[in-house]
Amino acid sequence: MNPKQTAAARALEYVESGMRLGLGTGSTTAYFIDLLGKKLQRGELSDIVGVATSERTAEQARRLKIPLTTLSRSPRLDLAVDGADEVDPQLNLIKGLGRALLREKIIEVHAERFVVIVDESKLVSKLGEHVPLPVEIIPFEAAAHVVWLNTLSGCRAELWLEDDASPIITDNGNYLVRCYFEQAIGNPQTLARALSERPGIVEHGLFLSMANAVVIAGEKGVRVITNDQ
Ligand code: A5P
Repeated sequence: MNPKQTAAARALEYVESGMRLGLGTGSTTAYFIDLLGKKLQRGELSDIVGVATSERTAEQARRLKIPLTTLSRSPRLDLAVDGADEVDPQLNLIKGLGRALLREKIIEVHAERFVVIVDESKLVSKLGEHVPLPVEIIPFEAAAHVVWLNTLSGCRAELWLEDDASPIITDNGNYLVRCYFEQAIGNPQTLARALSERPGIVEHGLFLSMANAVVIAGEKGVRVITNDQ
């Protein structure tokens, strides 16, 4: 098993029959969903329903016959499991390089417990150290939003393009911007507030104080850090 599979397998231990689950997006979560589907098929779990954070995840769940629901029908989730692009020592996250940050955030705030699964390459001392922060923007006057993002302290923002140079379109019909911070992100809370208050910015990939536990897998095994009071 590679570290992503190991983390996924460990997170499966949190799942019990009868649970309503938030199903994340990305390569690590894809392992988790695969293992979940197999456990359901073997009858080792039953009465599970999931809410998918992307069309990609919904397709995988359907293929594996994992029943899906929506937040309208099932507003309270027992558990959400998802990957992350970076994790800081306070368990704050950058997410969204799998292009699904908006639905991930919408769904994960509805979960009683949010468990993040990563390999240890995702651990950083400061968010923004290794990866850009993805930001979802509305296509209307997109260039103006990118200009504004470039005025943020230490930020170089670029519209995220496909290989054919067309803007990436999210499942929600929006665009994505990648924000690079040369010195990492000084104060994620202040940045999150500024982004949330700006018209045209739909959502950002800072997931602050949301994770209850992070399952970290590395060459030497797996460990879990929790934020539970
Ligand atoms: C999806 O939009 C992201 O938030 C993913 O959770 C994140 O990119 C982690 O992906 P991997 O598990 O593929 O590393």
